[in-house]
Amino acid sequence: MRTQVAIIGAGPAGLLLGQLLHKSGIDNVILERQTADYVLGRVRAGVIEQVTRDLLDQAGVGARMHKDGLVHDGVQICVDGKRHHLSFKELTGKSVLVYGQTEITRDLMEGRAAAGAKTIYSAHDVALHDFSRSAPRVTYSVDGKSEEIVCDFIAGCDGFHGVSRPSVPAGAIKTYERMYPFGWLGILSDTPPVSEELIYVRHPRGFALCSMRSHTRSRYYIQCSLDDHIDAWPDQRFWDEIRPRLDEQAQADLITGPSIEKSIAPLRSFVAEPLRFGQLFLAGDAAHIVPPTGAKGLNLAASDVQYLWRALVEHYADKSDAGLAHYSDRALARVWKAERFSWWMTTTLHRMSDNPFDHQLQLAELDYLFRSKAAATAFAENYVGLPY
Ligand code: APR
Ligand code: PHB
Repeated sequence: MRTQVAIIGAGPAGLLLGQLLHKSGIDNVILERQTADYVLGRVRAGVIEQVTRDLLDQAGVGARMHKDGLVHDGVQICVDGKRHHLSFKELTGKSVLVYGQTEITRDLMEGRAAAGAKTIYSAHDVALHDFSRSAPRVTYSVDGKSEEIVCDFIAGCDGFHGVSRPSVPAGAIKTYERMYPFGWLGILSDTPPVSEELIYVRHPRGFALCSMRSHTRSRYYIQCSLDDHIDAWPDQRFWDEIRPRLDEQAQADLITGPSIEKSIAPLRSFVAEPLRFGQLFLAGDAAHIVPPTGAKGLNLAASDVQYLWRALVEHYADKSDAGLAHYSDRALARVWKAERFSWWMTTTLHRMSDNPFDHQLQLAELDYLFRSKAAATAFAENYVGLPY
């Protein structure tokens, strides 16, 4: 088979890139290791920056997001039982959209099916070849049969555990990593959210987050130990642990119910540099990971995709390779700012250590955030998303 761009991975990054390229008349094929249902079964964050929303509109898949997404003009931060409100709208004139990433993935999959673009699910043993030359190849097998795609470019959108990044010779790539000594235990429940806005909670018992998917579906998280296992967390134990981390009003308003999903995720910051190796380009989680505090994962994947899409259009339509040459630097400049912000939110709101000095620094940082318009504006500007 021959295509212009072979995309590895049908997560949000691969699907969005595929959709934008298709709209621009650039032929592409997506290879995905899992089935579509498996991909749709993953629960991830759900806060969409305005620039991401605009890109999904450009890809022609924004209709359901506009209908069902909840516009949030601000966020609440609760520190040791006292809640504070930060208004994005007043501080930046912008807002975010709360809309589940699973729904975005579904909208992208439906858009791709409607466009008749090719996605090969259950593609095994995907291997990348000759990407330092002008005609790279991707080999894979489906139902035990070996196949090959010859292409102009490969987009490695196959997430943190994918095959693209490890295909690069070790000496050509530099990685930066920080693991955090805790995880997030999350549950999804068909209960109304405790508040109209998200509440990020800093508490001596540990971080908590009250989020939502709709007016009737909530998503809650608590900071947990890395050795914790979900079997040790029946629903009642979860509710008994999150409640005391909240302020009195939220404790009174919290409506509990059975969980419909429960999972534990580790927190990691990771960046690989550069993002280009000949004709191979990395995008999204294949290239970088942020801890979920601040919900930048999907938004960063979208910003990579935006730079890569424009660069490929420049290559095919304008016969210019300037965008491709600058892709890595442009994408990484935004990546590092989101890494900084996600690290800052994580280290400011979690129980990081037992050292009282660290606790006092967190409190000073948060007190400054609530009292200084400059600090609040810097926070809001990053939360709603920096411009491309
Ligand atoms: N061959 C083919 N596909 C693969 C391979 C492989 N060897 N390895 C991984 N994949 C697929 C995965 O099954 C997954 O569907 O690549 C996809 C990568 O998707 P994500 O992990 O969602 O990564 P990305 O699209 O970059 O996501 C960006 O969305 O899912 C979140 O946490 C993620 O917030 C981040 C954002
Ligand atoms: C979520 O709703 O899952 C969510 C929201 C905000 C975050 C992280 C996760 O920062």
